[in-house]
Amino acid sequence: MSTEKLFASVADYAETYANSLDARRVSPSATTAELRETLHRALPQGPTPAKDVVASLIRECEPGLLHSAGPRFFGWVIGGAVPASQAADWLATIWDQNAGGFACSPAVGVLEEVCGAWLKELLALPQTASFALVTGCQMAHVTALAAARFRLFDRLGWDVGTQGLVGAPCLRVLSGEHHHETFARALRLLGLGTDIVERLPVDSDSKLDPEALRVALESEPELGPRTIVCLQAGTLNTGTFDDFDVLCELAHKHGAWVHVDGAFGLWARVSSTLSPQLVGIENADSWATDGHKWLNVPYDSGYAFVADAEAHRCSMAMEASYIIDGGGREANEFNPEWSKRARALPTYAAIRALGRQGIAEMVERCTRLAQKLTKGIGSLPGAELLHEPTLNQGLVRFVAEDGDHDARTDAVSEALREDGRAWFGNTTWRGMRVMRISVCSWQTEERHIDESVAAVSQILEGFTSQ
Ligand SMILES: Cc1ncc(COP(=O)(O)O)c(C=O)c1O
Repeated sequence: MSTEKLFASVADYAETYANSLDARRVSPSATTAELRETLHRALPQGPTPAKDVVASLIRECEPGLLHSAGPRFFGWVIGGAVPASQAADWLATIWDQNAGGFACSPAVGVLEEVCGAWLKELLALPQTASFALVTGCQMAHVTALAAARFRLFDRLGWDVGTQGLVGAPCLRVLSGEHHHETFARALRLLGLGTDIVERLPVDSDSKLDPEALRVALESEPELGPRTIVCLQAGTLNTGTFDDFDVLCELAHKHGAWVHVDGAFGLWARVSSTLSPQLVGIENADSWATDGHKWLNVPYDSGYAFVADAEAHRCSMAMEASYIIDGGGREANEFNPEWSKRARALPTYAAIRALGRQGIAEMVERCTRLAQKLTKGIGSLPGAELLHEPTLNQGLVRFVAEDGDHDARTDAVSEALREDGRAWFGNTTWRGMRVMRISVCSWQTEERHIDESVAAVSQILEGFTSQ
């Protein structure tokens, strides 16, 4: 099958699409029924020219895309992707390297070593920590917690790799009420289950209460060395940070393993103005974060770091007689996958294109714009500001004369999504329906915030004049 003009046609389209994001409606224009009608076709029995396949994909899928890569998407912590990183991601596809083993791609193997070192330096984590480039923060949790599980059982004389979990001694998991569901799912995938989690209270800023942790640890001191404590760098709704300095010291005094969920918040480490909120985070035992959120790398990019590199390797490494020693770091000794995409390429490109200053500037700009957007919406008639961002997350809600603020808040967000000028999502926070505002795209500028506040204002006027 010839590739003549095929790649050029995609490159042309990519340019047009990327340049259209600023002016586009954010929401999809087609309904699910319409998409099914177009995309569900009988299984092809014969070939179709590659150019036609790609042209019809573009034509038929574009109406069903959520244009979250653009500058007026504030729904989830999704972020866009910086162009250098997108282009490098194409190289990962074109070169089609298997980054699982060093011998499969010495260049990607070395690039992965570089990414690990750069990421640890940027995030100010211990340089001796091991790392893995995984699919996202979900698998970063699984990877880091597999290392924790190995070490904690090892202390009890139990090799979980060979003996499994049947008949194993029990472990203990402590976390704040605010942990992300991917942490719980990691525990499920690792066979520890979610019932194991003892949820501790958080304060009015969603920070884990040190006194509650102290009481929990002191209540069963013999369990300390078999305990995982999960802390949060950037809570889901408010982007606040646990007090790592105090909590790590407390947990370590009892021999516990501290794991940090820093899916987006860990990136605040790069900013000199925001990083004081994360003091002491380097004292944890494992960290999970994403490239595809705040580093603005395309999807399929998460990072796990483990201070106890031996535990990390012991929990993941495997052997096969056909492996060739490539003479470098073997990614599959640290990854839960065997074959894998050359994820180092887009990460390397994003870090190199932005540099430390560019990343810090992006993180600070998003934080500043999240403040402006949240305050702008929160000060509109009929709106109530609930959480003014200290990072890139803000909360507002909309109040109704009949007292059903939850229904009003859901209706306003839905109307905005329908309108399409900006995209917001809602969540439940302290028993209330609230609009959760996230800013994490390299493309978002002041004018997008002004346009989005104007769109919300207009939608709200429609509600209040009814
Ligand atoms: C705090 C937090 N942890 C973990 C995750 C999971 O990240 P991923 O979707 O990359 O697996 C998210 C995703 O939004 C998150 O916000």
